[in-house]
Amino acid sequence: MFKSIYVFDAYGTLFDVNSAARIASAEPDFPELAAHWPAVAANWRRKQLEYTWLRAVSGRHADFEQVTKDGLDWTLEAAKLTSPALRERLLALYWELDAYPEVTAMLARLKAAGARTAILSNGTPEMLAAAVTSAGITEYLDAVLSIESVGVYKPHDTVYDMVGQEFGCAKSDVLFVSSNGWDAAGASGYGFTTAWVNRAGDPVDRLYATPHHILSDLKTIPDLT
Ligand code: LAC
Repeated sequence: MFKSIYVFDAYGTLFDVNSAARIASAEPDFPELAAHWPAVAANWRRKQLEYTWLRAVSGRHADFEQVTKDGLDWTLEAAKLTSPALRERLLALYWELDAYPEVTAMLARLKAAGARTAILSNGTPEMLAAAVTSAGITEYLDAVLSIESVGVYKPHDTVYDMVGQEFGCAKSDVLFVSSNGWDAAGASGYGFTTAWVNRAGDPVDRLYATPHHILSDLKTIPDLT
């Protein structure tokens, strides 16, 4: 194998964060979402991440469940979508997001080859446990690491330190995989080898480091050399 330890970001990487708004938009109870769901999904994600960074730099941590709710409340107010039932439905769907279709087979290949695998995520332990169970991938993961253990969000180095603490490994043993360009860059800056899953064809983030590999999905992760 290319590396002995494969560490994955969760939201946007293994789990499709757009699936909550997309699924709700197709439900008969929420016709008001049909025309707006892509913007709702994008703004929700953008505000959620902004709040993680702002809370990290200000030293005022609130967990990912809270910033997810806060980002949704901002988004729904901006879109003038005021239904409490819609808010509750979107939050419930966030706890059981779709995994991307290639996730299970890719993790199974890594495990069959003897690699160790983990999630390293901003999510709370409860949110991550729900998503992993709902996606049916528990058996393919050796660890699910939440930043709640360190109380600060990515891309703080303290978060990436959790991998070495969990596995007793060197940075050079790890491939870190994220669909968030800033997370892949942060992990590269920390010293991991990284793969950025650039599903949207975005430009490379202008940060202090760049990803080592750029892929369009997760299928070829076990083939990297
Ligand atoms: C996570 C966010 C960054 O899962 O998507 O950590």
